[in-house]
Amino acid sequence: QTRVLTGITTTGTPHLGNYVGAIRPAVAASLDPDVDAFYFLADYHALIKCDDPARIERSRLEIAATWLAAGLDPERVTFYRQSDIPQIPELTWLLTCVTAKGLMNRAHAYKASVDANVTAGEDPDSGITMGLYCYPVLMAADILMFNAHRVPVGRDQVQHIEMARDVGARFNHLFGGGREFFVLPEAQIEEDIATLPGLDGRKMSKSYDNTIPLFAGGARLLKDAIARIVTDSRAPGEPKDPDSNALATLYQAFSEAEDTVAYRAALSAGLSWGEAKARLFQTIDAQVAPLRERYEALIARPADIEDILQAGATKARAVAAPLLEALREAVGLRSFL
Ligand code: TYM
Repeated sequence: QTRVLTGITTTGTPHLGNYVGAIRPAVAASLDPDVDAFYFLADYHALIKCDDPARIERSRLEIAATWLAAGLDPERVTFYRQSDIPQIPELTWLLTCVTAKGLMNRAHAYKASVDANVTAGEDPDSGITMGLYCYPVLMAADILMFNAHRVPVGRDQVQHIEMARDVGARFNHLFGGGREFFVLPEAQIEEDIATLPGLDGRKMSKSYDNTIPLFAGGARLLKDAIARIVTDSRAPGEPKDPDSNALATLYQAFSEAEDTVAYRAALSAGLSWGEAKARLFQTIDAQVAPLRERYEALIARPADIEDILQAGATKARAVAAPLLEALREAVGLRSFL
């Protein structure tokens, strides 16, 4: 069996990028009988960028309801909250001790923060916590703890998965003594839509404030957000460059290849931006509306979601605990058993 694992950080409202990049491919993979899926809410990761407990709690509920509405079956998928698995932070420490500082210096998220400080004329490390700096080690622990073979993610996470391979290989080499404690994971990327653009054409991201929410606010908000996608001022009838903004890429993420070809051709032939946005809304809403209905029913029942997460945590701990025992022993710590 192939083990597939992925997580979403609980700091915001799920958006189309999360759905297309991670949730949709992960739910599809979980239906394969040869796949053993582990999907989780990354709430330890949330603490790195958010000090508002109420927001983390709300986001956790929204993300959990989103996974379930998107078709995750908690009977076949191990679905859990990262912070319910105490073995993960313990493994993080074991991995931290074998992770080269130079590797962390190269992490994009950290480097972007340093660059922003330098551009602003501030101290390079201003506002950068050890949490942000060590973020890739925590993520490596998430993945290695469950010996995942495949990790469905958007392109922005690929570097983190490569780092998890490096760190896992290093640990195997130092302590394995011929045994491979860790499987080295591979990123699973949807090649056509590895990075979904947001309203302004940059990567759709909470940090750029350019997201289109998946369910929140209903069809109304979806339509309003699509209306705000930035386009140029070409008039109806004028030929348009389908690659000059996010419309065609968003359209492609929710349609068959031949429909996308027709959409792009219509733009080139002078379709108005207003009509192009109306067609995009219809296409996305046709896919999202049935899920949105399930989402609304689920979010109204937080106690049921809590039961599902606790059952998932029990299953996940049963996998994590024996591996962690073996690792403690391998590095020279006392076994708990
Ligand atoms: P996060 O919460 O930023 O994003 C969750 C998932 O959504 C994908 N994604 C996108 N995909 C395509 N286009 C976009 N515009 C877009 N925006 C977001 C992300 O690539 C990701 O797959 N560190 C991770 C969470 C995490 C994790 C893990 C993932 C923690 N531990 C272990 C996999 C395995 C993060 O912050 O993702």
